Parts: sequence; structure tokens; C-alpha cells
Amino acid sequence: MSDTTRASVLWRPWTPITQQAQSLRIVEALGNRVRDEDGKWYIDAISGVLNASCGHAHPRLIEAATRQMGKLVHYDPMVTTHDPAETLATRLADILPGELNETVLLNSGSEATEAAMRIALQYWRNCGEDRNRVVTFEAGYHGSTFLCQKLSGLPFTVSEWPEPFPIDRVPLPAPASGMQTQEAADALVAGFEQALRSGPPAAAVIVEPLLGLGGCVVLPSGFLSRLRALCDEYGALLILDEVFCGFGRTGRMFGFEHETVTPDLVTMSKGISGGYLPLAAVTATSAIKQSFLSEPLVQGLRYGHTTGGHAVAAAVANTVLDVIAEERLVENSATQGRRLLDGLGQFTDSPLVAGVRGLGLVVALEATSVEAGEAIAETMADEGVMARHERGVIRIAPPLTISAQETDQIAQAVGVAIGRGAPAAPLRRSSSAERRERTE
Ligand SMILES: Cc1ncc(COP(=O)(O)O)c(C=O)c1O
Repeated sequence: MSDTTRASVLWRPWTPITQQAQSLRIVEALGNRVRDEDGKWYIDAISGVLNASCGHAHPRLIEAATRQMGKLVHYDPMVTTHDPAETLATRLADILPGELNETVLLNSGSEATEAAMRIALQYWRNCGEDRNRVVTFEAGYHGSTFLCQKLSGLPFTVSEWPEPFPIDRVPLPAPASGMQTQEAADALVAGFEQALRSGPPAAAVIVEPLLGLGGCVVLPSGFLSRLRALCDEYGALLILDEVFCGFGRTGRMFGFEHETVTPDLVTMSKGISGGYLPLAAVTATSAIKQSFLSEPLVQGLRYGHTTGGHAVAAAVANTVLDVIAEERLVENSATQGRRLLDGLGQFTDSPLVAGVRGLGLVVALEATSVEAGEAIAETMADEGVMARHERGVIRIAPPLTISAQETDQIAQAVGVAIGRGAPAAPLRRSSSAERRERTE
């Protein structure tokens, strides 16, 4: 089978929506860099799948996985328990605020959303209240299962099939670049209040602390606290989706720590295991779990997966928490994030750049057109920096282990792209497999 055929029988997720013009086959990753099959190294400015927060091939994480694999790979989480999962649940309870003490372990961010929805809606049944409605952001993203896609109003998730329960999606009152004003903050809060006030009582509000796939939208300061107050006023549970922001990505351990907010449920994945193994978690307050233990007992938690809380993944996650603390990765995320924003700030006058925004090591460079965005990402790749381009927005989210020198290299690669100016013709470069075949 030829290289091109081999590449084409692999049906990649979300393609062609996420496909960049330059399609590469990656064969190796070390520290903050990845190497393609032609031997070229790139700074990994997308952290694997936005999850390699401790960098690649970290010896401590490899050692933790290998050790656990030789001891106990996994065992039925419905019938038994094991130390790595118990330790992780305990440590999450320690680092999360308030009464967020009760953790269900899963495999993916989407599963965490599904579980959080199941828990939130069932909670109200347990309390004898008929609340089904969920309020969320139109530009939010909470995963790719059928239910998760229904929560989102982003163009690539919209489908014709009916919703499993009523969902109200609040639009952004301003473009992403204009979300930092007091006016935008007030309009956003008013939008959520309107959604909570209209219709039957809401069961829950689910939001990300920073809208990742919705265009890297940094929410106005104070918004989450005001949303918490609204949820209290209307009796809805507040679910914060920390799948992308959690574990240091925004320069705080959790995205909601930029404010003084305690949610009722938190969903986590990506950085929790540094991307070394699939893992996710939902942590709920003790009061929520308590409602599942009271009569009628048959209700219980109707959710779980065979490999949820996999022992090897949980062992890695426990070591990720050690690495984050010992290597001061949350602090580095804040420091390098500021440095990157400063570095990219010098390009805001370019006719190719509509704006630059970010929080910690989630930085977005918005191009003035999709073509300009594609051209910038292409040149960045040529210059040895792997970034992600989506609908005109270039996402830069390197491992939290990134150095100042590498941060500067990312900004320099953007500078080269800007220096080249607007693309003359639509770009359509071949994949590395196609290039190799042509030379064979
Ligand atoms: C905020 C957020 N929630 C949920 C998900 C879904 O996670 P997964 O792709 O692991 O199912 C993602 C994935 O990008 C995400 O960014």
C-alpha cells in the first residue's frame, strides 16, 4: 500500500474542517518539539492536541506509566477500586475549592461533559424538582459526542436532529476582540440572565472559562463571578468546563481561579494526564453526590466506562501533578504567556493581523482573512513552528514547559510570516506523504 493510500484510509477526526494545507506525518516528539518523517523538527506550539502540558517524553511520566503498567494495568471500576484512582480523586479534592470533593474518572473531555450533564439533570430529579433545561454559550465547545455537539452552536457542530433536552445558547454580544469592555461584560451577563429568566427553571449552566474552539475568546473580567451569582439567584447548577483551561493552561491551575468562583461541577481532561494517556474527570460537590445516595437508592449514578479511571492513566496524572508543582509550570505558563502576547503585540498594525489575545499559554492571533491565517500558519511551519489555524484564527498553545527562547522563536516565526505579506494565490500544499512519493 502506498504512503498516500495509507494516509487516506485513516479517517481523521473532524476532517476536512481542521485540515491544514500542509498535512504532516509526525514520527517523534521530545520536550517542546516534534519531528516529521522528513526529519524536520518543529516547536510544538499546539501541545500535541492542546494537552501535552508537561512536554513530550518526560522521563518522570514515562517512568510512572511503565511502573504502573508492570504492577496493575486496570481493574473493574464498578466492582473494585485501586490506589492510583483513589489517590487522584483525593488530590483533585485537595486542589479544587470548597466542597468539590467527589470525582468520577473517565477517558475523554466529551465523556466528562456527558457525565456532568447526567449528574446535573439527575440531581434535580433526586431533589424532586423537574429541571431539564441547560444554558450555555452559542460559541462554546464541550465535546464531540452527539449530546456534546448539541450543546454548542458553533457552525461545525450544528445538526438537524432534535435536542435531548431544552438548550438555550447565549450569543457573544461583541466580536472576540471586543469582549474586554464593561459594556460587553454587562451585555454578556444580561444575555445569561435573560436565558435563565425565560422558560422553565434551568437545571444547569455550562461554560468554559475561556472559549477555546469558539475562537479563543477571553471572557471579560468578573464575568464568572457574576454568572455564579445568577446561577444562585435562579437555582441552576454552575458547571465549569476546564477540559482545555485546567492544569495551568491559562496561567492559573484552573481557568476559574482568575476570579473567586466555586462551581458545582468541574469537568477536566487534556492537561490532567499531560496527554500521555486518555483520562478525564468530573468533580462534583459533596451535596450533589449526597443526593445520589439518598432514597430512592436505585437512582444512583447511571454513568461509567470500562476504562474510566484507568490505573496507568491515573498513575501518570498523579505524577503530572508533581511535575506541575516541582517545575513551577503554572507560573511558567503565566510568564511565557505574557512574553508571547508582548512578542505578538508588535504585529497588530500589520494588514494581515486583526488582533492578538490570550491568557496564559492560550494565545490567538486573528488574521484579517482565512487565507491570511492559512498563509501565516504555513510560514510558521516552514520556520519550524507548529500552530493550528482555524477559520482565520491561529491558535498558539505550547507546552507549559516552553522556555523564553522558544517563546521568542514562536513570535519570530510569526514575524517572518507577516514580513512575507498577503498570499498572492490560494495555498494548497501537498502532504509530506505525497511529497515523498513524488521523489521516489
Ligand atoms: C473545552 C472543551 N471541552 C470538551 C472537549 C472535548 O474533549 P475530548 O476531545 O477529549 O472529547 C474539548 C476538546 O477540545 C474542549 O476544548
